[in-house]
Amino acid sequence: MSYYKILGFKKEPFSTSPDPDFFYLSKEHEAALTNVLIDLRLKRGMSVILGDVGTGKTTLSRKLIQELKDRDDCLFHMVLDPYYENPVEFLSSIARNFGVVPLYQDRIASLVDMRDALERFFFKKTVEENKTIILIVDEAQKLTGECLEVLRVLLNYETNEFKLLQLVLLGQLELQTKIKEIPNFFDRISYKGKLEPLDFEEMKAMVFFRMQQAGYHIEMHLFLEEALGAIYRHTNGYPRRVNMLCHRALKELLLRNKFVVDAELIERLVEEDVKGGWQRTNHHLLQKSSYSS
Ligand SMILES: Nc1ncnc2c1ncn2[C@@H]1O[C@H](COP(=O)(O)OP(=O)(O)OP(=O)(O)O)[C@@H](O)[C@H]1O
Ligand SMILES: [Mg+2]
Repeated sequence: MSYYKILGFKKEPFSTSPDPDFFYLSKEHEAALTNVLIDLRLKRGMSVILGDVGTGKTTLSRKLIQELKDRDDCLFHMVLDPYYENPVEFLSSIARNFGVVPLYQDRIASLVDMRDALERFFFKKTVEENKTIILIVDEAQKLTGECLEVLRVLLNYETNEFKLLQLVLLGQLELQTKIKEIPNFFDRISYKGKLEPLDFEEMKAMVFFRMQQAGYHIEMHLFLEEALGAIYRHTNGYPRRVNMLCHRALKELLLRNKFVVDAELIERLVEEDVKGGWQRTNHHLLQKSSYSS
């Protein structure tokens, strides 16, 4: 039997996968989601969400997709890992995913052919069929300057009232520097959002929310307040680190035959990590654990 079932959960509460059903709408996450949805509705063009490692960008994008799936006026595609050798490969992948495949008998479609075919497609869908076309790019910090330029050109397609393509870029902080290096790109971002780590109250709320979503309804607190304090101190409210530490704490409960997670248990787990084998090879982790920043 899985460890979480023994503890009274139906599902794993602190899995590290970006499951939108486990996404707690903190102030930051909710503001980002709402702003992106508004800009999509208004067809403002481009939204960019920045955030440090493990602050919830991918999960937010899944939540966004969950919202968009229910709307039949939206056509969207999400790029998960935008590593492309060159801009032609990137543009063909975008075109293919929207079902646009320009065919020529005498030659291979060029970058310009593909752009033109996409522009015609965007125009037909948005102006004639009243749809919203959305391209979401996660890990956008991996896009090369040339690929960002491809996106900049696609953003130029517009009517007098709106942009034909809506772009949502999510990426780690260096994305900002990359965007700023491209002339006229930064100014075109209609919504700029940045996800910060959670504060203590929100971290607690996230932990309880995830436990509830996992089917925990027993009126008993698995995490003492002092344990949550220790978790916060060691993770600085970064959601992925919080999840990982909570996951380990619950497993440890079973191993030690205990019923509640206290501060001592958290401290011991963190201590073990600092001493633990493979982490010692990483200089960043010599003094601090993997849970701290
Ligand atoms: N608001 C939240 N509520 C619940 N869980 C969250 C929240 N934000 C993040 N998480 C959890 O934290 C973990 C990391 O989140 P995610 O993968 O979305 O981060 P990321 O910003 O995309 O990280 P990276 O920069 O490494 O790609 C996931 O398990 C996710 O479910
Ligand atoms: Mg991610």
